[in-house]
Amino acid sequence: MKTQVAIIGAGPSGLLLGQLLAKQGIDNVIVERVTGDYVLGRIRAGVLEQGMVDLLREAGVAERMDKEGEVHTGVELAFNDKRVRIALDELTGGDTVMVYGQTEVTRDLMEARQAAGLTTVYEASDVQIHDVKGEAPYITFEKNGEQVRLDCDYVAGCDGFHGASRKTIPDDVKTEHERVYPFGWLGLLSDTKPAHDELIYCKTDRGFALASMRSPTRSRYYLQVPLTDKVEQWSDDAFWAELKRRLPADVAATLETGPSIEKSIAPLRSFVCEPMQYGKLFLVGDAAHIVPPTGAKGLNLAASDVATLYKILTRVYKEGDKECVTQYSEICLRRVWHGERFSWWMTNMMHDFGSVEVNGTDSVTFSKFMESELNFYTDNEAGRRVIAMQYVGLPYEDLSK
Ligand code: APR
Ligand code: PHB
Repeated sequence: MKTQVAIIGAGPSGLLLGQLLAKQGIDNVIVERVTGDYVLGRIRAGVLEQGMVDLLREAGVAERMDKEGEVHTGVELAFNDKRVRIALDELTGGDTVMVYGQTEVTRDLMEARQAAGLTTVYEASDVQIHDVKGEAPYITFEKNGEQVRLDCDYVAGCDGFHGASRKTIPDDVKTEHERVYPFGWLGLLSDTKPAHDELIYCKTDRGFALASMRSPTRSRYYLQVPLTDKVEQWSDDAFWAELKRRLPADVAATLETGPSIEKSIAPLRSFVCEPMQYGKLFLVGDAAHIVPPTGAKGLNLAASDVATLYKILTRVYKEGDKECVTQYSEICLRRVWHGERFSWWMTNMMHDFGSVEVNGTDSVTFSKFMESELNFYTDNEAGRRVIAMQYVGLPYEDLSK
C-alpha cells in the first residue's frame, strides 16, 4: 500500500487531520489498533474552544455540532459558599465555548470519512514506524494475521498516550516532562437534566466536583477521589449522595439523579514530550501531551496540533515548500505549554491535596496559597479575564514565511 500521509490512530486527532488533508486533495490512510465501536465507547470531555469549532467547520463536519451543540457564554467557579461566574463572552470580546461531546465529534468524523470513501484500517496490530529520518518512510502492521507495509511521505502519530509513535523517537533525542497528581476523577454519565445551565467547577472541603453536561437531557459529573478507590466501590447512590455534598446547596437541592450510563475513574497527569517531531514523524494530541481535565484542554490542544500540521502539509503539497515542516514542534509546543500551565493551575486551585506536600510546600501552606490565588483571581475583573481568555482558548499561531 502507498499513501502520502500515514496516520496512526483513529481518535479525534487522526480523524480530524485525515478529513482536513483529504479536503486539500492530500491522500491519507488511517491505521487503528481497535474497532471503531471501541473508539466510540470511550467517554471523554465535551467542551470545544472556538478554534476547534472553526476547524471542524472547515473540515466540513460541523453540521450536527451546529444543530445540537450548546454555545456557553459563561462558566462558574464555586468555593467557600460563593459562586463566581466567569462571563466568557464579555471578558474576551465575544468568545464562547461549545458544549458537544468528544464521542459525537468522533462519530461525525468517522461518518464523514466513510462517506468520502477514505481508507481506515481498524484492528491493526503491532504498528511499527520505519525510516522517518530518511527519504522513504513506511509503516508496517499486522491485519488478519498478515503483515502489511504502507509506504508514505510523512507519518502522523495520532495514537494517544500509550501509542507506538512517541516510543519511536530515541530516548537521547526526546525529553519527557511529567507530573502525576495524588488523586483521580470519578466520572458519571446519566440521562438526567443537567444540574445547572452552565458548568460549575466546585472546590470544597470534601474535594473537587464538576457539574458538566452533554445535552439538555444528558449530564456528566465528576468527583475527586483517592487513587486507591475502585469504581466498583462507588454505587450510583453513593455517587449522587457525595455529589450533593459538594455542589452549591441550591444546586444540590434540585439535582436530578438517575441510573448511570457510564462510570469510570481517570488518573490526572501533566505530560509533555519535547520535541513533538522526529524527521518525518509528527506527534499529535495525546501522543505528545496530556493535561489534567480541569479546564477541558486535552481535546482542544489536540485540535491545535492538527491545525498546525494541516497548514504545514498543505504548504508542502501545494507550494512544494518541504522546509516548513521544521516549524511544527516549536509552534505546537508554545501553545501546549500554555494549556499545560492553565490546566495545572486550575487543578492546583480547585483540588484538595490532603496531607501531600505540593511543589516542595507543606499541604497546609499550599492550600492557603491556592485559596488566596482563587480569591485574588475571581475578586477582580482582570483576574476573571485571565481565566476567561484561557478557558475559551488562546489563538492559533500561523506558520512563519
Ligand atoms: N496502533 C494504532 N492505533 C493506536 C495505537 C497503536 N499502537 N495505540 C493507540 N492507538 C489508537 C487508540 O486506540 C485511539 O483510538 O490511537 C487513538 C488515539 O486516540 P486518543 O487517545 O483519543 O488521542 P487523540 O486522538 O490525540 O485525542 C485527543 O484529547 O480530551 C483528550 O484524551 C482525550 O482522547 C482525547 C484527546
Ligand atoms: C466533561 O464534560 O467531560 C468535562 C467538562 C469540563 C472539564 C472536564 C470534563 O474541565
